Amino acid sequence: MDIRNLGYVGVEGPDPSGWIPFATEVCGLMPSPLVPGQDPSATASNDGTANTSKDGTLFFKMDDRQWRLSVHPAEQPGLRYLGFEIPSPAAFETALVELGEHGIDVTSGTPEECVARGVRRMAHVSDPAGNRIEFFFSATSDAPFQSALGIPSFLTGSLGMGHVGMLVPDLEAGLHFYLDVLGFEETDYFEIGPGMAMHFLRCNARHHTLAIGRVGDFKALHHILLEVQDVDQVGQLHDRATAASIPISTQIGRHANDLMFSFYMNSPFGFDIEIGCEGRLIGEDWVPQKLIRPDIWGHAGLTAETGGGD
Ligand SMILES: [Fe+2]
Repeated sequence: MDIRNLGYVGVEGPDPSGWIPFATEVCGLMPSPLVPGQDPSATASNDGTANTSKDGTLFFKMDDRQWRLSVHPAEQPGLRYLGFEIPSPAAFETALVELGEHGIDVTSGTPEECVARGVRRMAHVSDPAGNRIEFFFSATSDAPFQSALGIPSFLTGSLGMGHVGMLVPDLEAGLHFYLDVLGFEETDYFEIGPGMAMHFLRCNARHHTLAIGRVGDFKALHHILLEVQDVDQVGQLHDRATAASIPISTQIGRHANDLMFSFYMNSPFGFDIEIGCEGRLIGEDWVPQKLIRPDIWGHAGLTAETGGGD
């Protein structure tokens, strides 16, 4: 499959409104002035306030794409979907065929679902842990990114919107799905303990788009990384998080594998948002490797139980 990047992430939980101050005033994201499916002439909001879709979903911009992060209302907090970008209609058709050949049940997105994502085509499957994985072609770009905090923009483009760290109960099944079926490549991994490990998988030059690990018989969204442009922006964001009394779950440090200078904080739904910069890019000649130490320095608080070291 020709997956180019992680195009969007949907999360869910009770009371999405808690994300408005967190996403905008702390993270520096921009509320989407126009949510997918909204009539541009009738309801566009250009005053920086957050629009919601009819079902109460919030959308946030990181760049000129209409949105990159959505927050849906739901009873329990967690991941709602990952959206992987396919570069062409032909590649999209090929992806559907290949998924079928692997025995994966594929469901085509309805026209309404495609409108709700702002994409021309979409299909979805379940990964072995039950996470909804979407594939899309042709997302919507609308307006330039304008952060109220003056952040130029996040590091996205061909690298995608960031990376996601997930914990799954069956690591072998998860690795088979993402490596053998979806075609991700393994960058590196480390063992945490008996039956526990973290693997770092890429689909472009970003060191990893997906960290998938097992620390027990449960699944969880551990964190979403948003990458900013430089160390000062990480520090300034850390200042804003501290001023807003956002719990810092992992102190500033630098990972040994993706070289990300970063920290982690609790999102309103409990899982973490990692804010980082200077993430390593991987070239064609890279070969997978096993790691021993997760960090060069810092990152106090990141433990095996919280998915550590990515
Ligand atoms: Fe990470």
